[in-house]
Amino acid sequence: MLKVGLIGCGFMGAMHANCYKNIEGVEIVALADLRREKAEELAVGTNAVLYGEGKDLIAQADVDIIDICLPTYLHAEYALAAMDKVKYVFVEKPVTLTVEEGEALLEKSKQTGCRVQVGQVIRFWDEYVELKKMIESGVYGKVINANFRRISPRPEWGWNNWLLDQSLSGGAGQDLHIHDVDYVLSIFGEPKTFYSAKNPCGEPNSYVNTLMLYDDCVIGVEGTWDLPGTHPFEATFRVVFEKAVVENAGGKFLLYDKDGAHEIAIEKKELVGEGYKGGNVSDLGGYYNELVYFCERAEKGEAIENATLADGVASLKFLMKELHFGA
Ligand SMILES: NC(=O)c1ccc[n+]([C@@H]2O[C@H](COP(=O)([O-])OP(=O)(O)OC[C@H]3O[C@@H](n4cnc5c(N)ncnc54)[C@H](O)[C@@H]3O)[C@@H](O)[C@H]2O)c1
Repeated sequence: MLKVGLIGCGFMGAMHANCYKNIEGVEIVALADLRREKAEELAVGTNAVLYGEGKDLIAQADVDIIDICLPTYLHAEYALAAMDKVKYVFVEKPVTLTVEEGEALLEKSKQTGCRVQVGQVIRFWDEYVELKKMIESGVYGKVINANFRRISPRPEWGWNNWLLDQSLSGGAGQDLHIHDVDYVLSIFGEPKTFYSAKNPCGEPNSYVNTLMLYDDCVIGVEGTWDLPGTHPFEATFRVVFEKAVVENAGGKFLLYDKDGAHEIAIEKKELVGEGYKGGNVSDLGGYYNELVYFCERAEKGEAIENATLADGVASLKFLMKELHFGA
């Protein structure tokens, strides 16, 4: 049984806990949150020991893996401590607030041998996984151009409103837009050149729009949380290949070719955990897939090869270049 310690039981901690409860051979044995009631909610259905301060969990809990779902500005401090304790650490995205902190984590992982996965979850999201296969197989020819877009109302749910303080979260750039940037980098690598724009007035880093230019294609990546609460969250893409167009928008995943529009089927898997029967794994999005991957690697003692610490730091570095473009 793989013993999980989860630090931070807010919005993302709750999602991770639901995933672990649905992975065979995995048990949440320790939960930490300064808000006791949040840890208690996630403890339902487990025998987890509850902690307040995350550092107490790191010091005292008997765990195999530690998962850090704390506000971004705390990632580095807690990840460094966790890497001294266990051999596998999961850190939510963005890996850290600053590149320097990310590099400190890389150094620590060299010293300790600790294997770290970063929550760059889009790499594990069904539609994006399918798209990657299409691009890499060349089944529809080369990509000519593409657009990835992630738009959201302002995130007002954070503990003490930390998300809306850009000095703590990094704003929409680090919190939202980095998902698509990381995905594009994971397939296409760094562009030959790029242009990037932010809001010329108003809140900086709440809107980022970047054109990434490669030798034979151009990719636009847009992210914003400038929208009112009445606007739905949307994550969409459109990829124009030589022989077809693939679009994921409005809840539809479609392939357009010379014969018409065809729905692209995604295999559905049922949830297994107590209290989840009848639900579908896709209800847990790519979070389930990324944690299955992480737990499998930890169980077998294998290296993390997707959404690695180095990947997370590389994406953060590119994001910083976007945010400073033209400055
Ligand atoms: N992968 C994704 O799609 C995705 C989505 C949302 C958030 N996130 C990331 O997840 C992380 C957490 O975000 P969130 O939305 O869950 O935030 P949140 O505010 O909902 O939760 C953070 C929790 O940490 C607790 N906490 C703070 N300091 C603590 C400490 N020292 N010890 C123990 N508990 C402490 C708070 O009480 C709170 O419950 C962030 O890095 C965010 O960027 C990722």
